[in-house]
Formats: sequence, structure tokens, C-alpha cells
Amino acid sequence: MHAIVVTQPGDPDVLTWTEVPDPVAGPGEVVIDVAASGVNRADLMQRQGFYPPPPGAPPYLGLECSGTVAATGPGVTGWQPGEAVCALLAGGGYAEKVAVPAGQVLPAPKPVSLTAAAAFPETACTVYSNVFQGARLAAGETLLVHGGASGIGTMAIQLAKHSGATVAVTAGSDDKLAACRELGADILINYRDDDFVERIREATGGRGADVILDIMGASYLARNVDALAPDGRIANIGMQGGRKTELDLSTLMAKRGTITATTLRARPAAQKAAIVAAVLEHVWPLIEDGRIRPVIHCELPMPDAARAHRIMADSTHTGKILLRTQ
Ligand SMILES: NC(=O)c1ccc[n+]([C@@H]2O[C@H](COP(=O)([O-])OP(=O)(O)OC[C@H]3O[C@@H](n4cnc5c(N)ncnc54)[C@H](OP(=O)(O)O)[C@@H]3O)[C@@H](O)[C@H]2O)c1
Repeated sequence: MHAIVVTQPGDPDVLTWTEVPDPVAGPGEVVIDVAASGVNRADLMQRQGFYPPPPGAPPYLGLECSGTVAATGPGVTGWQPGEAVCALLAGGGYAEKVAVPAGQVLPAPKPVSLTAAAAFPETACTVYSNVFQGARLAAGETLLVHGGASGIGTMAIQLAKHSGATVAVTAGSDDKLAACRELGADILINYRDDDFVERIREATGGRGADVILDIMGASYLARNVDALAPDGRIANIGMQGGRKTELDLSTLMAKRGTITATTLRARPAAQKAAIVAAVLEHVWPLIEDGRIRPVIHCELPMPDAARAHRIMADSTHTGKILLRTQ
């Protein structure tokens, strides 16, 4: 098969479409003939040498894919060769084939193309596990999504609206905010022009956000606590604004606030399988009946992975960038 190989850590030009050995389905694994893989911001870090794959993961980039079951390993029940699927991966999606634990495979949703199905696994699993399982967002509460036009943000807006929450978003341009509004966002904050703490307080009658899905980390932590409602929950999933900072805990204590921080890729396979099962039960029906849709900025041929990484680095996209094998 062919895969995108990182010839050495560096800029997007190090991504090379190369012939490599085919994966084999080990015990409990499914091999997928990949139709498409979603590009995630973590892939840019892995390309630069900052985010090595966890032990046992394929060495290639790619945290999600769609495609067709090619083979099943010993002990796998429930999946048959030829079935259309998508999957949450610890790596290896930028390839013509990938092996994945059977518990991380989902049926490809019928309303969307097989290519578009690659837009769902990472966003649905990250948002569901952090916003709903971890932070327990409830109907009537307010969710603040930083980076509302990101791949993650576009899924968070849709899922939160369907749960009956009010959704506030930050983004860096009015075009991106307009896209968030189309997806259902209620409170639109251009973080370049406005202070999100002030805006969220104004919009909630001084109360703040019950849940904040944060991708910035250090640069937003203190302001996220300021923007939090009493008994609020901050779910951190990214460090785009740095990893180290100081926090005055008295504000968090006074609000009885909670901060969690997780990364999906490093979770044990059993936890990933439990998240995928919950996503199948709670998110998939919304995708199957068209209430949640994939937000796709562009689809590129997989050998053009360097172009996809440049688009993501420039942040001109809204939603997902996909790489097609054909
Ligand atoms: N922990 C996990 O398990 C996990 C899983 C998946 C993703 N993530 C994280 O989630 C984030 C989004 O991932 P993605 O793949 O969807 O990436 P993406 O589409 O490239 O999104 C990145 C977003 O960051 C926004 N942004 C940059 N500076 C900002 C600021 N100061 N305030 C608010 N937003 C800002 C950008 O918006 P503008 O262009 O408008 O600036 C852009 O929409 C990344 O940090 C990624 O690492 C974490």
C-alpha cells in the first residue's frame, strides 16, 4: 500500500506518498481499505516531531478514517469484509489501509458519502466525551466553544444545540462567526475585537458559561475561570495558547468550578471503545436522520497532504479538511 510518510520532522513538504508494507489484522483488529482520512491539528504537531504516536500505534499520521472492511483478525465479531465503516484511530489514517481495534469502528452513516464519513469519528468522540460525559452539559445550560469554526467546534455547536443548550462561540473572523450561526450558535464573539469574558457575562445576565470547551490552554485559563458560571465546568482539550500558566484558585473555589484536561489519542483502548459505543448510541442517530451534518471545508487527494496541512496552518478553513485515497 501507499502511506504518507514523514521523511523527517519539518514543514509540510516532508510529507511523502510512499510505498510501505500492508498492515495485518491482529487479534481483535479490523483492517480497513481507507476511502478518506480527516486532518486534525494534532497531525501538524506530529509532522513537526512534537506529538509522537502512542506505543503500538501505526507510525503514520491520521486519527480517523472512513472506508471498507478489508479483513478481520482473530476474535472479531460484528464486522464483515465489504462493510462501509469509519473509525477512530491512534494513527495511520493517511494510508491506503489501516488496522484498528474493532471497538473503535463505527458504521458509515447512510446520509453522507463514504468520504464525508471520515469527518465524524474524532470530532464526535472528542466532543461527546468531553462536553457530555465529562462536563455533563444539560439542556438549558450555556456552552462556550472556543474556536467555534474548527473541526471540533462545528461538531460541538451542533451537538450542544440538539441537547437544548445555548451555544456561545469565539472565532477570529466574522465569516467564521457567520458559519457558526448557520450551525445554530446563539452568541457570536470575535476574539480579535471583543473580550470574551465581558461578552459572555453580558449575554448571560452576568452568570457566565456553565461549560467551556477550551482549545487554547494557558493563554485562556484564567479568563475561562472568570467567564465560568457557578458550578461551571471547563473541559480543556488543547494547548494552542501554551501549556504553563499560574491560576488564582480562589476564583475557581468561589465558583465551585471544575477543570478537566484530556487527550483522546492517549486513552486506553477500552476507554476509546466505551466512548465509541456511547457515540454510536447517542450521536449516530442524529447523523443518521440528518440532524447533525458534516462540515467539510475541502477534500484533497491524499498525496496532497502537504497542501492540506498548509490550509490548516493558515486557519482559512471552517470545519474539516479531508484527504481522499481516490
Ligand atoms: N484533546 C483531545 O482529545 C483533542 C481531540 C481533537 C482535537 N483537539 C484540539 O482541538 C482543537 C481544534 O482541533 P481541530 O483539528 O478541529 O483544529 P482546527 O480546525 O485547525 O481549529 C483550530 C481553531 O483554533 C482557533 N483559534 C486560534 N486561536 C484562537 C483564539 N485565540 N481563540 C479562539 N479560537 C482560536 C482557530 O480559529 P481562527 O482561525 O478563527 O483563529 C481554529 O478554528 C486543537 O487545539 C486540537 O489540538 C483535542
